[in-house]
Amino acid sequence: MVFMDETEVLLNDGRYNLRPWVRQKDQHPLAIERAEGIFLWDYRGKRYFDMSSQLVNVNLGYGSREINRAIAEQLERFAYIAPAHGAASRSALAKTLVEKSGGMAKVFFTCGGAESNDNAAQIARAFTGRAKIFSAYRSYHGSTQGAGNLSGDPRRFAVERPAIPGYIKFMAPYIYRETLPFKTEEEISAHYLWVLREQILAEGPQNIAAITLEAVAGTSGVIIPPKGYLPGIRKLCDEFGILLHFDEVMTGFYRTGTLFAFQNFGVTADIITFAKGVTSGYVPLGGVLVSHKIAAFYDDNPLLCGLTYNGHPLSCAAGNAALRVYDELHIEEHVRRLGAALRNALLDLEQRHPSIGNVRSIGLFSALELVKNRATKEPLVSAGNLLDALSGIIALLRERGFLTIGRNNNIMIAPPLIITESELNEALNILDEVLSIVDGSL
Ligand SMILES: Cc1ncc(COP(=O)(O)O)c(C=O)c1O
Repeated sequence: MVFMDETEVLLNDGRYNLRPWVRQKDQHPLAIERAEGIFLWDYRGKRYFDMSSQLVNVNLGYGSREINRAIAEQLERFAYIAPAHGAASRSALAKTLVEKSGGMAKVFFTCGGAESNDNAAQIARAFTGRAKIFSAYRSYHGSTQGAGNLSGDPRRFAVERPAIPGYIKFMAPYIYRETLPFKTEEEISAHYLWVLREQILAEGPQNIAAITLEAVAGTSGVIIPPKGYLPGIRKLCDEFGILLHFDEVMTGFYRTGTLFAFQNFGVTADIITFAKGVTSGYVPLGGVLVSHKIAAFYDDNPLLCGLTYNGHPLSCAAGNAALRVYDELHIEEHVRRLGAALRNALLDLEQRHPSIGNVRSIGLFSALELVKNRATKEPLVSAGNLLDALSGIIALLRERGFLTIGRNNNIMIAPPLIITESELNEALNILDEVLSIVDGSL
């Protein structure tokens, strides 16, 4: 254990640690001294509600004795054993995940989200013998060369120097900002599905291995698809022999009220990638779940994917414990109940705060899209500097003990799934206060 005071932590961090996604100068990060439940404390004893579960991964909050104990017990046996050998924690977790997924056959473990998506693309290409992968512009799939090229959001520009051929983007629906005179969600879906079908034909269906999608696009602003859209994508995939890959890295493990977000929409997957919530962020772990057909293909063909830390026993021990805790806490029911409370509370805020243009919420996964003007839907902050755009509002929230993240014009509200109703209400009072300040600036 390293002991430092706040000044030393921040000094070393600024001098020696490269922080992701920001210019390094003039950053003012928070140093956290301890954490428990849904709360974090800084070195001055100030308490913060963690209203984003960090990067939407600490689903079970901090200080879970069960997860901590499982990691310690695994350490007592052995910390690591190569993927070629059997390890109890790995085989137990593989079995549980496959059984819970309801339809998948096997899992390939990785160390995180981007790695999972890289390997999913590799598996889809090997299985179909096709090269192209379709993904949506409003999406994020990770920042490695492969997952970065798969991502649609502007963070991909950094790895598109040059872009890797074969990663094809399409425009998916965004109900709030549609400008054509659609009368129903089904009409929006039909339009986008027609355009996508045309694009598939233009690219040659025989060349397309997979469509990769976040069922609910997370960092793009909790964008929930219109009715009929995901079933329509499933139909297109079936028509052309294209695999449907859902990226559940952010939405997996009950965030939206079901184990995986796509299960809210009555569709099935051929490939599911996951990470974050599988261990509730206690240690890194990710994976690729594959269908029976894909698993059978690998009975006779070598799996040309490999990682030193494939199914790391410590991570798998944490995963087994986390899955047990989700069950013991009946987290699925809890998320549905509190998700309804959160949604109602946000809709109430929308009534009172003109700066809110749109509320999107499913389970404990929400975004407030902020605007200057409700009639024109002009975004509150210009898209000039996307990474810093909301920093002023995020800072006001942080000053008052409400810690969250925001992107574009969206403030995310995605607390640990263990949050209680009274904690939720207390935190939302802070949001209410800050939104009044934002309204005043319009
Ligand atoms: C949907 C989605 N996929 C992939 C990733 C990348 O995961 P990781 O940062 O673990 O590589 C993220 C990260 O936020 C994500 O939200």
